[in-house]
Amino acid sequence: MTGNVRRFAAGVQALAEGTPGTRVEVLDLRKAVPSGNFLLMTYTFGSGGVPETTARFLAEHAAGLRGVVSSGSFHWGANFGRAGDHISERYGVPLVARINKSGTAADRQTVAAWLTEQCRNTLARPTGFEDMRSAYGTLD
Ligand SMILES: Cc1cc2nc3c(=O)[nH]c(=O)nc-3n(C[C@H](O)[C@H](O)[C@H](O)COP(=O)(O)O)c2cc1C
Repeated sequence: MTGNVRRFAAGVQALAEGTPGTRVEVLDLRKAVPSGNFLLMTYTFGSGGVPETTARFLAEHAAGLRGVVSSGSFHWGANFGRAGDHISERYGVPLVARINKSGTAADRQTVAAWLTEQCRNTLARPTGFEDMRSAYGTLD
């Protein structure tokens, strides 16, 4: 819609890649499907709902989903960023962050640290788990 999720993903990527051993690829889910584990970033739509494009993507490609970040707006009160709660509950993955619009520096830190931790865990495994990837879905 307005590029908030895209801006946040780019900011997190820039921050995470400053940490040695962390490689983050940002994919636009309208154009590409992640081949391994990934963090989903999505906006919230309707009354705290999961956007249709995000729901459709997850119905087919949730196997590698390891966490979710939801963007929303404080104006929506109790429904602020609720898409992330729905996805977290439905797929049993952590809500890594709930962000207002395109998020803050602290939000970027939180998510970059989570990605770095995931990469570390992946490297610690004895056999080839795929790199952690960051992906997002928007309608804009
Ligand atoms: C029609 C419409 C409905 C929305 N519904 C919600 C909502 O229920 N809860 C919420 O937190 N934000 C809601 N938002 C705000 C968006 O989720 C928020 O602006 C988000 O950052 C947009 O991300 P994008 O620019 O990447 O699409 C809504 C926005 C629009 C235009």
